[in-house]
Amino acid sequence: MTVQQGMKKNDTYSQSFKALFRNLLPFVKPYKGMIAGTLLLTLIGSFAAQVNPLLVNETINRVEELLRQPDPIVNGMRLLLIISAIMLANELLNIGIQFGQKYFGEKIRIQVGSDLSQKAVDRLLTYKMSFFAESDNQTGYLETRINRGVESLIRLVQNFFLDILPLFSTAVIALVVMFNANMYVGLMALVIIPVYFFVSQRQAYRLKGWRMQLRGQRERKNHGLINIIDSITVIKSFVREKTEGEKQYELQMEMLDNQLQTRRTSYVFESLKSFIQQIGVVLIIILTVYLVLNGQMGIGAIMMHIMLFRNVSAPISQLHRIYDQVNDALIYADGFFDVLDNDDAVEVGGDIKAKDVEGQFEVNNVNFTYPNGKKALTDVSLTLEKEKTTAIVGLSGAGKSTLINLLCKFYKPDNGVIKLDGIELEDYENGSLRDNIGLVLQKNHIFKGTVYDNILYGKLDATHDEVIEASEKAFLHEQVLLLPEGYNTDASNLSGGQQQRIAIARLFLKNPPIIFLDEPTASLDAIATEHIKMSLDAIKEGRTVVIISHSLSQIVEADVIHVLKDGYLVESGSHENLYKINGEYRKIFDASARSLNLDKMIDTIAV
Ligand SMILES: Nc1ncnc2c1ncn2[C@@H]1O[C@H](COP(=O)(O)OP(=O)(O)OP(=O)(O)O)[C@@H](O)[C@H]1O
Ligand SMILES: [Mg+2]
Repeated sequence: MTVQQGMKKNDTYSQSFKALFRNLLPFVKPYKGMIAGTLLLTLIGSFAAQVNPLLVNETINRVEELLRQPDPIVNGMRLLLIISAIMLANELLNIGIQFGQKYFGEKIRIQVGSDLSQKAVDRLLTYKMSFFAESDNQTGYLETRINRGVESLIRLVQNFFLDILPLFSTAVIALVVMFNANMYVGLMALVIIPVYFFVSQRQAYRLKGWRMQLRGQRERKNHGLINIIDSITVIKSFVREKTEGEKQYELQMEMLDNQLQTRRTSYVFESLKSFIQQIGVVLIIILTVYLVLNGQMGIGAIMMHIMLFRNVSAPISQLHRIYDQVNDALIYADGFFDVLDNDDAVEVGGDIKAKDVEGQFEVNNVNFTYPNGKKALTDVSLTLEKEKTTAIVGLSGAGKSTLINLLCKFYKPDNGVIKLDGIELEDYENGSLRDNIGLVLQKNHIFKGTVYDNILYGKLDATHDEVIEASEKAFLHEQVLLLPEGYNTDASNLSGGQQQRIAIARLFLKNPPIIFLDEPTASLDAIATEHIKMSLDAIKEGRTVVIISHSLSQIVEADVIHVLKDGYLVESGSHENLYKINGEYRKIFDASARSLNLDKMIDTIAV
């Protein structure tokens, strides 16, 4: 590495260190009173830590004097009492200081940690859909980035207040005391520091690669375990127990090697450091003994200097840990604050509140590309008439769900305009717009919690009767009553069809003027589909409804049908007209009809 490269590296290091500090500052600032208190206690503690060495010095010197006097025991008793009293008082003071210092340090850590986590949650909730669709922001990754960031920052704050600061201020003051006693002694203690520093730095450097590897392996192992549990059905059905076990075993062996290596390196460096420390002690002893014999100081100085030197060297032996933690914080804080400060990802909305919405949508020349570069809609123009039911038809991947995403303003079109009641969607305030839209999706999300709470999500202030009524309309009520815990059953234990009914019940409870149904009956049985269709038919009255369905029965009676193919709008019209055109719609329709084996069915019904 050239000098220039080295400088550059150091430069970015200090830059990212500064950035870390700047980012962290607003989170620490609210606790500045507490921090000042902690710092004060730390300072007092550092002074108190020097009392013992000084006292030992005093004691030994006095005892030595006493030995030369005629009645040492009687005079010694008084000295003993005074010294014991001071030592005890100092210890009590120390306990108090340490308690306060640790308690406040922890408190700062806990509070900063919870502020960081909450800020991450609050920020994420303001971000737009495209942020979550980005590949490096997917659930697992985002979660890890946030958790790791918070963890490493908390650790940094904690160590700064609980370890680094007290140790270093104690060391500095001990050094000052040593210089004060004798310049050469001070210099001797000072000289050891760079050696120590160097060794600690080497240790941190050598361990860094392994530590990173180890962390990666731990993550992979956790992930592997979660994967196994999640996919146990597939694993068993393909009889892959052995393969999965072997995969884990290999990882385990890698980890084992790595851990042993890490331990070995640690021990080598720890021994080296304690050896250097010992050399330091020996040198200090030699120098002090020389000065004592020279008559420049009392014999007590030997012990005092050893004790002071330990105060000086203590933080330096922790240096590699501090290195590690600062490095961790630098690595993970970046990812964390990137997530936190992503102003571009914040969902923007207009000022117009959507009130008394009629529900007429105009889509004009809309193009849309997902963040991963997949072009999902090309030049789509269509109208969704208010109080009418519009069906969107197309093969899998045609762009049907995407269109709904755009109508809900989850994504912004690349270009083109979507208007609701003559006003651009962009100009609406997001919350008020979505309050007017009811959405039943292909994959209906069920939150962790009871069936009741999951339905209530549709209207948080709904009464008990309203919830039950919605559940009845969604043909869920009777099924829920059969469950062992009724409405208190954990909703994630329900069957796919039952979960879909929860989503529909939510819609009934919300009761919005605009309804988007993306395969609302996809996982329902025939009887339930028929029931739900009746309920939906009832709610359709006077509302703008868009329905996506692969099931013909729900399509044929729509007022207008739009057909999408590979992101293009290819046909529009009523069922009869589209059928006559003999194009894409007819192709899909005929295939669906054939798959139903209609001839056979009609025969059966006729008999
Ligand atoms: N979040 C996403 N990120 C990237 N590409 C996406 C995303 N969602 C959908 N796509 C892609 O956009 C295209 C249209 O998808 P869309 O979900 O709109 O299809 P669809 O018509 O609803 O199909 P299906 O009937 O299977 O639900 C597909 O090629 C799909 O792979
Ligand atoms: Mg879809």
